[in-house]
Amino acid sequence: MTDTMPSDLLDHARAAKGFMPEDEGALLHRIALERLTHGPVLEVGTYCGKSAIYLGAAARQVGGTVFTVDHHRGSEENQAGWEHHDTSVVDPELGLMDTLGQFRKNIARAGLEEQVVAVVGQSTTVAAHWRTPLSLLFIDGGHGEEPARADFAGWAHWVEAGGYLAIHDVFPDPADGGRPPYELIYLPALASGAFTEVAVTGSLRVLQRTQGSAGDRL
Ligand SMILES: C[S@@+](CC[C@H](N)C(=O)[O-])C[C@H]1O[C@@H](n2cnc3c(N)ncnc32)[C@H](O)[C@@H]1O
Repeated sequence: MTDTMPSDLLDHARAAKGFMPEDEGALLHRIALERLTHGPVLEVGTYCGKSAIYLGAAARQVGGTVFTVDHHRGSEENQAGWEHHDTSVVDPELGLMDTLGQFRKNIARAGLEEQVVAVVGQSTTVAAHWRTPLSLLFIDGGHGEEPARADFAGWAHWVEAGGYLAIHDVFPDPADGGRPPYELIYLPALASGAFTEVAVTGSLRVLQRTQGSAGDRL
């Protein structure tokens, strides 16, 4: 089996709206291929399913399940007036963002409904009830201070020994982008002593759990 994205699924990933450059998606796919036989993958921040297609492609190849958590109401930076707003994902009746429909279409078109399971809700609420060790945790949710801090506190300890914590939009240089994923997820993960960096592509950082086990507080 090759570790590159199957070409049919790469086409679906390219076509989906979202925020996952192809080289970073390829890394996500590769680390999911490596880990999925050890347990489920969980993504925080689904949006329209672009990154979930890279993760789901690995599940189609080796088996396993990808959970993807999002309230589908958009992050701060997706709201009207902000840089990443897209009027095509606003529910006209409610006047609120709703990316769930686009996500379902993209996953169905890609044929990944068996592999990718949407969990619709606040990341903090889902995390508070979560009890399952994760072979790979990919954090790409709200990029403000509060959601970044909460995602680290709520999810990172569920990565199993040898599993990966992947973090998107990590910018050590403030000139390149916002600080919270770097300051409130990446640095605390390294400072905990539980994780060691193993791969970098663009703004995607991959850390491996090298101390402790799933569920142990960091
Ligand atoms: C940067 S986008 C995710 C991009 C996606 N991974 C992709 O490949 O295109 C961030 C997503 O996180 C979600 N989000 C932000 N804060 C959240 C929270 N507290 N709980 C659940 N989802 C949240 C937003 O609704 C948004 O869809």
